[in-house]
Amino acid sequence: MKGIVLAGGHGTRLRPLTHAVSKQLLPVYNKPMVYYPLSVLMLADIRDVLLIVKPGQLHLFKALLGDGRHLGMHIEYAEQPEARGIGDAFRIGADYIGDDEVALVLGDNIFHGPSFSTLLMQHSSSVDGCVLFGYWVKDPERYGVGEVDAEGMLLDIVEKPLHPRSNLAITGLYFYDNEVVDIAQRLSPSDRGELEITEINRAYVKRGKARLVDLGRGFAWLDTGTHDSLLQAGHYVQMLEERQGVRIASLEEIAFRMHFIDAEACYELGVEFGASEYGEYLRSIATRESQ
Ligand code: G1P
Repeated sequence: MKGIVLAGGHGTRLRPLTHAVSKQLLPVYNKPMVYYPLSVLMLADIRDVLLIVKPGQLHLFKALLGDGRHLGMHIEYAEQPEARGIGDAFRIGADYIGDDEVALVLGDNIFHGPSFSTLLMQHSSSVDGCVLFGYWVKDPERYGVGEVDAEGMLLDIVEKPLHPRSNLAITGLYFYDNEVVDIAQRLSPSDRGELEITEINRAYVKRGKARLVDLGRGFAWLDTGTHDSLLQAGHYVQMLEERQGVRIASLEEIAFRMHFIDAEACYELGVEFGASEYGEYLRSIATRESQ
């Protein structure tokens, strides 16, 4: 399975923070935002990732993540010339996806919860149709909203409904079989001029091939769309990291734990981070876990 991180868009609601820099490069506590969605793909055991960014920002993302080799990954880049919607990712990425299945994660979505990697791997192996991830929210009208049957198959999805039929928001993480490329090619822009991800998902619902996995209580799916929610996400990460002494979405740690790199390589990455606490953390887990 290939992975795509969509980090386009103008981050209009976060101006002036996003005037010169992509939203997905802003800090969420101690890491750039894009670390968090990228970590989700890595936890699903995906090593081939296409990062789609807005024009003018490519060099910044490349300076941050390079070709991914240091993480035992292959990261490629593409530009999204205009904000044409989430569905555009499958047009831009069509050649990259080739004949493979694909996972898409939005570059500003933060997921954190117990046994997440196990859950992801369970659902990423041989996708028939699509797998979407639902999350109970109190304000479903802000999102794509799903209705499911007793088996977890989606019966309908409505984008930002005025009168939501459920509280299950469709989060920004999507697993698809290869048909998504054809479905995206046939899509026409919505009234707001975007290729809507919800229309792609509805095409799968029509085929009876859209499954919803409920992330459940005790899981965190965090928003970063406003100044307040961005700060709250930072506090969430800070609070858990401080309490447990672990790092959330440390790409180097995950690369090590997923066996993309060995303990020695993890230690070396820690050395590159120098005297920072982050560097010390990587060196300590590499040392501890290899004993
Ligand atoms: C988009 C999708 C929506 C989904 C949300 C998740 O909304 O259209 O279905 O629930 O991402 O973050 P947008 O960010 O475009 O408002």
